[in-house]
Amino acid sequence: MQPAPHTPTLTKHKGLPIVGILPELLANSPLQTLSHIMVRDGGFVELQLGTKPVYLVSDPAIFRHVLRDHHRNYPKPDLLYGTLKKVAKNGLLTSEGDFWLRQRRMIQPHFHRRQLANIAGTMTESIAAVLDGWQSYATIGQQFDLGIQMSHITMNVITRTMFGQGISSTELDTVARLVPDILNYVTMRGFMPLVPDWIPLPVDRKFERNYAEFRALVQSLIDRRRQKPGSDLISMLLNSVDDETNEQMTDDQLFDEAITIFGAGFETTSTTLTWLWYILDQHPQITDMMRQEISSVLGQRTPTMEDVSRLPYITMVISECLRMFPPIPLLPRSSINDDNIGESKIPAKATILLFYYGLHHNPRIWAAPEEFRPERFLPDTESNRSTFAWLPFSAGPRKCIGDEFAMMEAIIATTMILQRFEITVTQKDLVPRFGATLRPSKPLLGVVRKR
Ligand code: HEM
Repeated sequence: MQPAPHTPTLTKHKGLPIVGILPELLANSPLQTLSHIMVRDGGFVELQLGTKPVYLVSDPAIFRHVLRDHHRNYPKPDLLYGTLKKVAKNGLLTSEGDFWLRQRRMIQPHFHRRQLANIAGTMTESIAAVLDGWQSYATIGQQFDLGIQMSHITMNVITRTMFGQGISSTELDTVARLVPDILNYVTMRGFMPLVPDWIPLPVDRKFERNYAEFRALVQSLIDRRRQKPGSDLISMLLNSVDDETNEQMTDDQLFDEAITIFGAGFETTSTTLTWLWYILDQHPQITDMMRQEISSVLGQRTPTMEDVSRLPYITMVISECLRMFPPIPLLPRSSINDDNIGESKIPAKATILLFYYGLHHNPRIWAAPEEFRPERFLPDTESNRSTFAWLPFSAGPRKCIGDEFAMMEAIIATTMILQRFEITVTQKDLVPRFGATLRPSKPLLGVVRKR
């Protein structure tokens, strides 16, 4: 039985009057500053930041309150989501209310484990295509950027599962060029609240151009799929019918969902895989245990969907990687009405900063949180912890729709890489850098050797 999380009492950040946490933010990185506040002041802290109340949350009981038990009082605010909305419009990530619910009902079944079995083959082929390109690096021992390679893998997977095998290599290249630029724009603009949207910046024009080009490309892929459906995600979404209204999605809505799934599903998974190789380089004994599991379950055979549940140790390693380096480190919410969380009063229009990184590094929940210990995810150990202690995919009704897709992809990609290669990291001392996703501070360079 999981223990019911105890709700901590709100503490006030002990900063200077008026300037609040600004001096700390200027002296350290945002991640260091917020982590330091979490360790010193607790998992539920009122910050001084501007004129409105802001609450920093790194405690499972408060996550449960905001994301599940009282989620209607805490919708997504303009901070960050305002910029996301420019890109993803009415897609699943950025819509709210009845419209969101209708879309979620239509899309969710396609991410069910049974449906994922249909795309597992496309996944392994897409990963293999990138790994085939590593042979030349391995032969001459040339150093390369592992982060970029992980992005190639996850981009290839999401593009092919979304649009099927019919997509040409020129179209694949265009997607690979446009999507990262569009996402960088979201991070830049979304976390720049000091420059309001109505002040134009040169990045806005570049974004408009990229967006229009991406839109035209996706529209042509949708048109093709209308004429000749396949077993890809777009074909499935094209044929989805809302049970209650009997309606189907318009092309505009399909585009919003397509760009949302791209945006949500590609960089998050590549960030996870990038940190994985960084951390495994420091733990050769863990890598050995992963290889032993692969040898006994698969040998050199390519993993299938059914194999994923037969690789529990690799699953634990990836779960621990998602704990140490949650790809989405922080998300905001905003209160509609006054509320009580435990014994603490939260006023209307307050900003809640859901600090996922802080939750995963909270020493009141995790013993030695800075140590990489996959055994934390052994079933017996897990059952002693609140289910709200590990939330890389968030929780409640707005939980990630692609969590099983992402775990399956990460497990299959890791297995295929370990079957074929040995990776040595040559760029040490990386630290996580705060942003819309938790990327490393420097490129992760490494060399691969064929096994
Ligand atoms: C390791 C990989 C991933 C991580 C850590 C992750 C994390 C998250 C988180 C934290 C949210 C909540 C966002 C919010 O509240 O605003 C979310 C939502 C979402 N994710 Fe993921 N995600 C991952 C992979 C994927 C994949 C592979 C897909 C699709 C193929 C995907 C699609 C979505 C969508 C559509 C939403 C919005 C759901 C809704 O609001 O109804 N994600 N994800």
